[in-house]
Amino acid sequence: MDERVIGRSGQRASVVGLGTWQLGADWGDVDDKEALSVLEAAVESGVTFFDTADVYGDGRSEQTIAAFLRERPELDIFVATKMGRRVDQIPENYVLDNFRAWNDRSRRNLGVDRLDLVQLHCPPTPVYSTDEVFDALDTLVEEERIAHYGVSVETCAEALTAIARPGVASVQIILNAFRMKPLLEVLPAAQEAGVGIIARVPLASGLLSGKYTKDTVFPANDHRTYNRHGESFDQGETFSGVDYASGVEAAVEFAALAPQGVTPAQLALRWIIQQPGVTTVIPGARSPEQARANAAAAALPELSGDTLTAIRELYDRRIKDQVENRW
Ligand SMILES: NC(=O)c1ccc[n+]([C@@H]2O[C@H](COP(=O)([O-])OP(=O)(O)OC[C@H]3O[C@@H](n4cnc5c(N)ncnc54)[C@H](OP(=O)(O)O)[C@@H]3O)[C@@H](O)[C@H]2O)c1
Repeated sequence: MDERVIGRSGQRASVVGLGTWQLGADWGDVDDKEALSVLEAAVESGVTFFDTADVYGDGRSEQTIAAFLRERPELDIFVATKMGRRVDQIPENYVLDNFRAWNDRSRRNLGVDRLDLVQLHCPPTPVYSTDEVFDALDTLVEEERIAHYGVSVETCAEALTAIARPGVASVQIILNAFRMKPLLEVLPAAQEAGVGIIARVPLASGLLSGKYTKDTVFPANDHRTYNRHGESFDQGETFSGVDYASGVEAAVEFAALAPQGVTPAQLALRWIIQQPGVTTVIPGARSPEQARANAAAAALPELSGDTLTAIRELYDRRIKDQVENRW
């Protein structure tokens, strides 16, 4: 699979990576064997980049990755983790001592001395403007706890503030066919500054696969049930912030745009891969089949101008007004 440089880190990532929130919690029940088989299917398909977080299953996602990589020492996988959501998200918590403790826990969970990339996990907005936070992150690099740091943001404005920080290697942001605002300023600014872009929630939590109907019922312990209106965390993380019923209708139209032999989910991924400035797209997968199908999107031909125009028109007509004023 093609690889791209992760911004200022200088390291490389497959253009399709793997999101591993699903291997922790919040997407219904997780089976350990199935989780390992998702990781296996991804790497066998050429994936070399995993995205995880200390909070996914309260460490379970990180530990599963560690267990998998222990069995496969020959692999060279870049593991990006995140920190900061196991405590209250108040600016006072984003200090060096906490960072050290959070890093040390992730190092233990992942079984490594030095973490490849640690991202601030959607901190409060003022954190991006606090010099001491970035001084502390530089200290973690000096102490060799982490090799690189980045941020995972909610809004385009936060992304732009973070890109201006010289030590930020990467910005993780929601970008998909139902979330296009980052194309305007964030991707060009990241490209200009040499900052990597990690595109998350690429399938709008599965909506863009076109497989759900208005009657689909998600498990009680799935955020698509309990966070649909932002009850537990930012609403934008669930279905990309798109109202479910209208999202299902728009997804039907989106699916009809898929070229012959391409699934709607693959169309959604391919669309992201070819946006200038994107480093890697990190679909989450609940099964080895999904992981394989997602990785295969990397080898699909470029989408035609007509298809790109139709995707844009659909977004402008059905989605834009729902999301652009918030994120
Ligand atoms: N704040 C943050 O930093 C943050 C927030 C959210 C996500 N993330 C990261 O981004 C990653 C990706 O985002 P996400 O997992 O929230 O959303 P996503 O990738 O847009 O959607 C994942 C869901 O899409 C469905 N799916 C996946 N592959 C499919 C395929 N080939 N065909 C049909 N359906 C498919 C599955 O749903 P079913 O379960 O219904 O099959 C899967 O659970 C996460 O795993 C996590 O690593 C980070």
